[in-house]
Amino acid sequence: MAVSFPAKIETEHLILRPFRWDDIDDLMKFAVNEEWSRYIRPPYPYSRENAREFLADRVALSHPDQTVWCIERNKQMNGDVGFAWHTQNRAGEIAYSLSPEYWNQGLMTEACRVAINTAFAGDQQLNRIYAAIDTRNAASIKVVEKLGLTREGVLRQNRLQKGQLVDDVWYAILREEWAAH
Ligand SMILES: CC(C)(COP(=O)(O)OP(=O)(O)OC[C@H]1O[C@@H](n2cnc3c(N)ncnc32)[C@H](O)[C@@H]1OP(=O)(O)O)[C@@H](O)C(=O)NCCC(=O)NCCS
Repeated sequence: MAVSFPAKIETEHLILRPFRWDDIDDLMKFAVNEEWSRYIRPPYPYSRENAREFLADRVALSHPDQTVWCIERNKQMNGDVGFAWHTQNRAGEIAYSLSPEYWNQGLMTEACRVAINTAFAGDQQLNRIYAAIDTRNAASIKVVEKLGLTREGVLRQNRLQKGQLVDDVWYAILREEWAAH
């Protein structure tokens, strides 16, 4: 994606910034928690090698079709939020995760809100932001509903998640809806 977004964004409770190699110890603290990766791609059990691979992608920015910020609170890296861009469709898929230590305090809703604002403001061509969520992931569904995304439908047995075929529910918001909401 040709558009460049701010590298660092401050919200009321969080700093969104680029990943660094020295985030590895903070990452290991929560990524080893089975609850964290239950509905998302990273493996469980999670090794330091997994953390190195994760950071290698993000520090080297080896995926030009993605924009990812790490989430910092209390001077610790405790999550991530970002987009995979589908430029030809003027769309982006949002993805996010947070250390279980910080769940249910409204922090991911805050991080996603500023990320979506930044995306729509920074790329005037962007028309649609969507999220694909494991239907069992009630907290994530709550996040997108609080943000005003619309439930579009369920893709049955859409993905192999930790050895099990799971349904994904898709939510999306269009530029005009975000502007009005
Ligand atoms: C999903 C996730 C990002 C949510 O982060 P968070 O900071 O806790 O989110 P928020 O606090 O902004 O909102 C969570 C909401 O879900 C609700 N919730 C949490 N667990 C729930 C459950 N089991 N059933 C119903 N609602 C639940 C919370 O009460 C809260 O709603 P409220 O503000 O109305 O009280 C976090 O749980 C996480 O990182 N999970 C692991 C990674 C992941 O699943 N990422 C998303 C992939 S699509």
